Amino acid sequence: MKTYRVAVIPGDGIGPEVIREAVKVLNTVSQLDGGFRFEFTEYPWGCEYYLKTGEMMPPDGLDRLRDCDAILLGAVGYPGVPDHVSLRDLLLRIRHDFDQYVNLRPVKLLRSAPCPIKGKGPGDIDMTFIRENSEGEYSGQGAWLYPNTPQEVVIQDGVFSRKGCERIIRYAYELAKREGKSLTSVSKGNALNYSMVFWDQIFREIAREYPEVETHSLLVDAAAMLMIRNPERFQIVVTSNLFGDILTDLGAAISGGMGLAAGANLDPERRFPSMFEPIHGSAPDIAGRGIANPLASIWAAGQLLEHLGHPRWYGRILEVMEQLLTEGSSMTPDLGGSASTSACGDAFAARLRQGN
Ligand code: NAD
Ligand code: IPM
Ligand code: MN
Repeated sequence: MKTYRVAVIPGDGIGPEVIREAVKVLNTVSQLDGGFRFEFTEYPWGCEYYLKTGEMMPPDGLDRLRDCDAILLGAVGYPGVPDHVSLRDLLLRIRHDFDQYVNLRPVKLLRSAPCPIKGKGPGDIDMTFIRENSEGEYSGQGAWLYPNTPQEVVIQDGVFSRKGCERIIRYAYELAKREGKSLTSVSKGNALNYSMVFWDQIFREIAREYPEVETHSLLVDAAAMLMIRNPERFQIVVTSNLFGDILTDLGAAISGGMGLAAGANLDPERRFPSMFEPIHGSAPDIAGRGIANPLASIWAAGQLLEHLGHPRWYGRILEVMEQLLTEGSSMTPDLGGSASTSACGDAFAARLRQGN
């Protein structure tokens, strides 16, 4: 039987609470499938670890992860440790050093998931965001000059390499071609006169290789407005690191909330393990109360299964999610229910078993 080695980094706040349920679902799937099993290795890295050791993960942390088949991550960041330290030294470090340059985030309104936009239903909100995940505004480069003087200046550099832009834009074109969907590029060339002009140019250059793909180019401010006014017009969307971050929280808000939004950090060349996570954070406001919604993490577990070559199980997970959303009785408070995190996960596993 095939064994998949999955590294689990539950992280901070609600991270461990929701990841426990994702692992529950993955174990249920492997039992039902019978053709593979999971071997989970849990790493206790995060803000508590930092407070004890002064580091977010041990110096050989990446080496320990390197040979696994996939990484499942909860959330990182907690009051008491500066966010720019905790996130940069763990989450962003893994994304960058494992060259997980594609951040694939479905923005898909499932049947019976709440949508705050009047008159919109499941068919109207069905997008795939392809967010650049290795450079751009997140390059981490810059300078802090003359600190604590009247001359103080900070510079935050955006890095847009030809290689970095080409590979993410090409990935999005390939996906659009394969799925027969339109492709929208979101940028901001009117104000960012180097980076986004370059991005737009590369988007047009690569278009020539894909005459069959219908393309659109939008400025990010207009794109934010249109995601609310006219979400149907978006199918595959490709954008920079920061714009993708912001627009996918907006995407979560129109497709059921933060409790239902997942993402995959992919190295498409499979030189390194890819990483799967809910897109929400550690939610300190509700951490420790057992009420966090685990569905985003379970969705990410579905993406992990697809990545490992089991797209039918991914489909099945989305199907069960729609069934449970429709019944309503196992939903956590963010979705109007009163179920606990673990009760929601239990119901998910039970429903998976029923259908098989
Ligand atoms: P957040 O996503 O943690 O929370 C935003 C709001 O959404 C909160 O009201 C929270 O209660 C709610 N929420 C989030 N996930 C939920 C879930 N599963 N179920 C129910 N409600 C949920 O964002 P924030 O408050 O801006 O950030 C908190 C911390 O998390 C910060 O340290 C931030 O840097 C970090 N963060 C980490 C990640 C990550 O690890 N991928 C992502 C975003 C933020
Ligand atoms: C996300 C998060 C991260 C990001 C933060 C925590 C660094 O918001 O995964 O969306 O900006 O990428
Ligand atoms: Mn974000």
